[in-house]
Amino acid sequence: MTEKYFMRAMALASFGPPDVLQLTEIEAPQAGPGEVRVRIKAAGVLPFDCGVRSGSHPLVQKLGFPIVPGNEFAGIIDQIGDGVKDFSVGNEVLGFTVLQCYAEFVVVSADQIVIKPKNMPWEIAGGFSGNGQGAHLALKALGVGQGDTVLIHAAAGGLGTFSIQLAKVWGAKTVIGTANEANHDYLRSLGAIPVSYGEELVDRVRKVAPEGVDAALDAAGPDALRASVELVKDKDRIRTMVSFELANELGIPALSGNRSAAKLAELVELYSQGKIHIHIRDAFPLQQAAAAHQKIESGHGRGKIVLTID
Ligand SMILES: NC(=O)c1ccc[n+]([C@@H]2O[C@H](COP(=O)([O-])OP(=O)(O)OC[C@H]3O[C@@H](n4cnc5c(N)ncnc54)[C@H](OP(=O)(O)O)[C@@H]3O)[C@@H](O)[C@H]2O)c1
Repeated sequence: MTEKYFMRAMALASFGPPDVLQLTEIEAPQAGPGEVRVRIKAAGVLPFDCGVRSGSHPLVQKLGFPIVPGNEFAGIIDQIGDGVKDFSVGNEVLGFTVLQCYAEFVVVSADQIVIKPKNMPWEIAGGFSGNGQGAHLALKALGVGQGDTVLIHAAAGGLGTFSIQLAKVWGAKTVIGTANEANHDYLRSLGAIPVSYGEELVDRVRKVAPEGVDAALDAAGPDALRASVELVKDKDRIRTMVSFELANELGIPALSGNRSAAKLAELVELYSQGKIHIHIRDAFPLQQAAAAHQKIESGHGRGKIVLTID
């Protein structure tokens, strides 16, 4: 029998504001058949994690405490379960799961990880999967391809950062991104034409895209989704990551699909080729997860926030 030991995690003993995230000692997980255990070096922080923490996300409402948030990670494999053939102890990997990454160790199925390229820093690897795969799913659903003009709302955030670059890689002729003026140079550096959000957004977009917008991704909210409907003829080429009820009312298809190691591997390859760049907004030590959540919940900023774990 494997000896039990304990690890540090930022866990919730109740739902609530950021300071319910508390440094907690919990039993370290053990890799079962088909699984690997990863000693985490960095874990991304996503708006999803804030929904877990506050209890607003339906997925966590019936779970028992403690709950450890964290949806994406990077680290070093330190334990291999029976039947795992493609990885070994010591491999540097990045991957995804639903919860559990704000901790020293995570156990996942071996089909939820890929090898981390040597040139990818831990902070970027830890914050790579969630927004990367979200952008991949959304742009695939939109059918983004050769010659398209694509509008990305909330383009400076984690999801937008990936979406702009992936749309370009997949052949979009023009990518327009909405952001606060302070982030306009950032959007330009990623290859997008920046436009400020707020009143008269539709007019501003028309000015920079006189031939029209082919597809739109909303990661901002109802105003952005309504503007997308005015700008894009075919509702099948609009998706939202935020305003699901409104999308249903407006006849916009829901986003479906799953994350996979194959999608992650494709994105990692693009990173290795220098086609995707990720700006780290902030890196906080694990025990400062509450500060990371406060920052995400400000609703503004560019790039990714991650936690680092010694
Ligand atoms: N896998 C995924 O990535 C995924 C999956 C499901 C849902 N989502 C949802 O997608 C949204 C974005 O996620 P994220 O990880 O990119 O968040 P994030 O990194 O926190 O970025 C949020 C961005 O929203 C921008 N913003 C704020 N108000 C805006 C407005 N009125 N119009 C346009 N942009 C505005 C901010 O830009 P400024 O600083 O320029 O204001 C900021 O860059 C979140 O609601 C998240 O829950 C994401």
